[in-house]
Amino acid sequence: MTNIAGFQSVGVVGGGQMGAGIAQVCATYGLKTILVDINPKQIETARTGIAGSLEKLSTKNVITAEQKIAAIGSLAYSSDLSALKDCDLVIEAIVENERIKTELFQTLDKLTKPTCVLASNTSSIPITRLGAATTRPDKFIGMHFMNPVPLMKLVEVIPGMATSEDTTRRILDLAAGLGKETSRSADYPGFVVNRILMPMINEAFNALMEGVATAEDIDKGMKLGTNQPMGPLTLADFIGLDTCYAILKVLHEGLGDPRYRPSPLLAKHVEAGWFGRKTKRGVYKY
Ligand code: CAA
Ligand code: NAD
Repeated sequence: MTNIAGFQSVGVVGGGQMGAGIAQVCATYGLKTILVDINPKQIETARTGIAGSLEKLSTKNVITAEQKIAAIGSLAYSSDLSALKDCDLVIEAIVENERIKTELFQTLDKLTKPTCVLASNTSSIPITRLGAATTRPDKFIGMHFMNPVPLMKLVEVIPGMATSEDTTRRILDLAAGLGKETSRSADYPGFVVNRILMPMINEAFNALMEGVATAEDIDKGMKLGTNQPMGPLTLADFIGLDTCYAILKVLHEGLGDPRYRPSPLLAKHVEAGWFGRKTKRGVYKY
């Protein structure tokens, strides 16, 4: 059985775009992986999405046909958290909401074995606070994958105040074993990537709100003018406007600086239920 940094079996909670990608990568590297979502429909969406992504990667020779078949065989799905009781590691990738994540981690703390490491893929919520809600803050860490997980190289690793150096070292080794590069960040709101990325996205919404330019011109300007793969509004739709809004609220509250105030136009999109690609409408229609 594959063992990376002492981890053989991994649970992923949340089968949305991030959780499905994380489970796919863990399974591709031979780890016994279980993906859990409370929504059975989402499990089917994740299963189909993972199969499609593995097929694409194998067609492009990024992975071999054997790896594709082995990955599908290593992956199990469930809507029941108790399926995670024997895991060595559980990575949480549910909605960006501190109350809901805290409740989940308290449940996971009770049902997983004491040696199991608990990791959050949160984009911004303090790791120290999430870890303090469990009885194992030394085995609690931020493991922040980037979207789309199978293609993006980086994992940001965020130890909380009480995270042990052993846990941090194992998670850095695991990420390297999954073919990723790592960067380490201290536990401040938004860590590094979103503290810098989200103000750009927020400013794009403010520019759109003030009529500085059309969405298309804002995106074109930033894409071609600064050599980014996607303009900021396209990227926001890709990440999820609900997630961007939640991250900006954490930055604004946590750092107490008005420069992180979420754009009222971003707030209005979220209030309208226009979350971006995942709801087929955001800044753009899909
Ligand atoms: N699995 C396998 N293949 C995939 C894939 C996936 N999950 N997603 C896309 N692809 C494939 C596409 O099918 C396409 O294949 P073909 O060339 O055969 O058609 C190929 O990748 C290229 O995709 P596209 O043509 O759609 O577009 P692209 O060239 O722009 O590449 C992209 C897509 C890699 C996503 C690129 O646009 C990109 O890097 N965008 C920026 C992503 C980014 O910034 N991510 C970080 C967001 S912030 C974050 O994640 C942190 C947070 O907390 C919010
Ligand atoms: P998403 O909306 O695509 O998926 C969230 C999933 O969690 C849904 O399938 C939902 O059914 C499930 N869920 C909600 N509550 C649950 C619970 N209690 N138990 C089990 N499943 C539950 O969201 P996403 O974009 O995949 O983001 C997930 C997490 O990853 C968030 O914390 C987000 O901030 C973070 N993140 C997102 C991105 C991104 O670009 N979208 C990048 C890095 C990190």
